[in-house]
Amino acid sequence: MIRVLGIETSCDETAASVVALESGQPPRILSNTVFSQIDEHAAFGGVVPEIAARAHVEALDGIVEAALEDSGVALEDIDAIAATAGPGLVGGLIVGLMTAKAIAASVGKPLIAINHLEGHALTARLTDGLAFPYLLLLVSGGHTQIVLVKGVGDYQRWATTIDDALGEAFDKTAKMLALPYPGGPNVENAAQSGDASRFVFPRPMKGSAQPDFSFSGLKTSVRQAATSVAPLSDQDVADICASFQAAVTDTLGDRVKRALARFRDEFPDTAAPALVVAGGVAANKQIRAMLEKLCAKNGFAFIAPPMALCTDNAAMIAWAGIERLRADLVEPNAFDFVPRSRW
Ligand code: KG4
Ligand code: ZN
Repeated sequence: MIRVLGIETSCDETAASVVALESGQPPRILSNTVFSQIDEHAAFGGVVPEIAARAHVEALDGIVEAALEDSGVALEDIDAIAATAGPGLVGGLIVGLMTAKAIAASVGKPLIAINHLEGHALTARLTDGLAFPYLLLLVSGGHTQIVLVKGVGDYQRWATTIDDALGEAFDKTAKMLALPYPGGPNVENAAQSGDASRFVFPRPMKGSAQPDFSFSGLKTSVRQAATSVAPLSDQDVADICASFQAAVTDTLGDRVKRALARFRDEFPDTAAPALVVAGGVAANKQIRAMLEKLCAKNGFAFIAPPMALCTDNAAMIAWAGIERLRADLVEPNAFDFVPRSRW
C-alpha cells in the first residue's frame, strides 16, 4: 500500500489531500481539502499574487492538518510528500514546496516535486483508470492546452494559447460587463437569456492549420460591442455573453476536432480513444455539450472527472506522486528543487 500526501498552492486554492493505492485495487482518495481564496480576490476582479501568497501562508498548515485528520492516516504512515513545484504564481509555489520539504524532512520521507499540469493530465487515471495514450483538454484560468498524454512523464503539447487563457477570456468579458468575479459562471448564467446571434464575434484561429488558440482579439471585439451599446441593459449584457460563449464554443470545437483527427492518425490502433477535460471552464454546460457531441461523432470517449477533481486540488498532486513512485520517476534531489513559475 502506498499513501501519499499532496499539497497544491500554485494559484488561488490552498489544498492538501491523501491518496492511497493498494495493489489490485482502484486508488482511493482518503481526503481532499480545498480552501478557495475566491472571496479575497473578488474585489480586484482577478487573482492578486501578493494576496494569494499571504493567504497560502496563513491557511496551509491548517489545511494539511485537516487533510491528514480526514484521511485517518498518521503523518508517520505517509510514504511520500508530493507538492506542486510549478508552473504557477511563485509566491504560492514557494509556500507549498517549502512546507512539503519541511514535512518530508521532519518525518524522513521522500519529497516529490510535481508539475501542476501533470496533476491535471493524470487525474483521469485516478478517477477512471484510463489507459495511455489519451488526449487532455485543459481549460482553466491559467491554461488552454491540448496535451497528448502518452505515459507518466511523457507528454506532448499539441496546442496552447498564444495570448489569453480561455478562463481568463471569460473573466475579462465579465469584468467589461460589470459581472462579478469569477466571470465564467456569471457569463454562462447571463448567456442563458441572451441572443447569441445579435453580435457576430470573431472565431479566432478557426479553420487555421495552426493548432493553437487565441482569445485576445475576441476580447477586443467584446469591448467594442460593449461600448457601442453603452449604457448596457441587462438584455445587452445577456446578448453579449451569449454571443461570446457561442464564439468560444465554436473555436474550441474547431481546435479539438483537429486534435481528435491527429490522434486517430498517430494512434490508429488505440481501441478506445478518449478525450479528458480538466480546468474550471469544463464546468460550462454549452462547452461540455459541444465536446460530448464532438467526441461521440468521432468515436472518442468523453471523460469529465467530477468538478472537484477538474479544478485545482491536491488529490491530483498526491496521485501524480503515486504514479511517479510506481514508475520509478522520482527525482533523487527533490530537496534541491526550486519552484519554477514557468515550468
Ligand atoms: O481550474 P480553475 O478553477 O483554476 C484556475 O485556473 O485557477 O479555473 C478557473 C477558471 C476561471 O477563469 C473561471 O472563470 C472559469 O474557470 N470558469 C468557467 C466556468 N466556471 C469556472 N468558465 C466558463 N463557464 C463556467 N461555468
Ligand atoms: Zn490547474
